Amino acid sequence: MLEIKEVDKSFGGVKAVCDCSLRVEEGSITGLIGPNGAGKTTLFNVITGYYKPDTGSILFEGEGIDGLPPHQIFRKRIYRTFQITREFAQMTVLENVMLMPENQIGEKIWNIWFRPASVRRQEKTIQEKALEVLEFVELIDLKDEYAGSLSGGQKKLLELARSMMAEPRMVLLDEPGAGVNLTLMKKLMANIRKLCEEKKITFFLIEHDMDLVMNLCNPVIVMSEGKMLAEGTPEEIKNDERVLEAYLGGQYR
Ligand SMILES: Nc1ncnc2c1ncn2[C@@H]1O[C@H](COP(=O)(O)OP(=O)(O)OP(=O)(O)O)[C@@H](O)[C@H]1O
Ligand SMILES: [Mg+2]
Repeated sequence: MLEIKEVDKSFGGVKAVCDCSLRVEEGSITGLIGPNGAGKTTLFNVITGYYKPDTGSILFEGEGIDGLPPHQIFRKRIYRTFQITREFAQMTVLENVMLMPENQIGEKIWNIWFRPASVRRQEKTIQEKALEVLEFVELIDLKDEYAGSLSGGQKKLLELARSMMAEPRMVLLDEPGAGVNLTLMKKLMANIRKLCEEKKITFFLIEHDMDLVMNLCNPVIVMSEGKMLAEGTPEEIKNDERVLEAYLGGQYR
C-alpha cells in the first residue's frame, strides 16, 4: 500500500533519514521502532508531506506522492497524529473532534446563507459521529472541557479520535501510547485492532512501548541511523542481534 524507496532527508549536516526503503502492506498494523533520533518522526513527516524528501520516492497504492503538500496527502485519506500533540487548546474536546472532516458544507459561506437546512443537518451528523468517537476513546465525559486542559495521555487519545473522524485508509501514529496509562493503553490497542479489522484501516505506528509493539504490530520494522535495519515478526525482531546492538549502541556511545 505504501512503498518508500531510497529516501534521504537531511537537516543541514544531520542525515535524519538516509537511504531508507520499506513497505507497509495493506491491512497490516506495521510497527516502526528504533532508538531516539533514528529518524522515525522525520520519515512520517516526509510521508505526510510536511517535509520534501531530498531524494527517493514514496508510492501510495502505486502512485507517487512525494513532494505533495500535506492537505493533498490528507485527501488520499492518509492521516497522521503527532508525537507532540496539536490540539486547539481554546476549543472544547468535542469541537476539536468535529473540526476534522474536510469539505463540510457549512464552511462555504454561501451555504450558510442559501442552504441553512443542509448545513444544520450535516453539522448534526458530524456531531453525532464525534460523540460516538469520543465514546469510543472514553473521552466523552470531558467533551465540554477545553482541549488545552487535558493531560498528556488524554491529548493522545484526542488525536486518535480526530484521526477516526476523517475516515482514513491509512493512519500513521507517532507514539500513540506515550503518557497513556495501562488500562487505556489496552483499550487503545483493542481499538486499533478493531479499526484495522472492521474498517479496513491500515496502521503504521511508531512506538517505544515494546509491549504495545510486540502485541499489536506485525510486521515490526526497525530503524537505526536513518535507515531500515530489520523487518520481521515481533518474535524475529526480539531475537535479532542487530536490533539489540542498535539500541545499546545508540544509548551508550
Ligand atoms: N526540523 C529539524 N531540524 C533539524 N534537525 C532535525 C529536525 N527534525 C529532526 N531532526 C534531527 O533528525 C534526527 C532524527 O530525528 P527524529 O525526530 O526523526 O527521530 P525519532 O526517531 O523520531 O526519535 P524519537 O524516538 O526520539 O522521537 C535527529 O538527529 C534530529 O535532531
Ligand atoms: Mg519521534
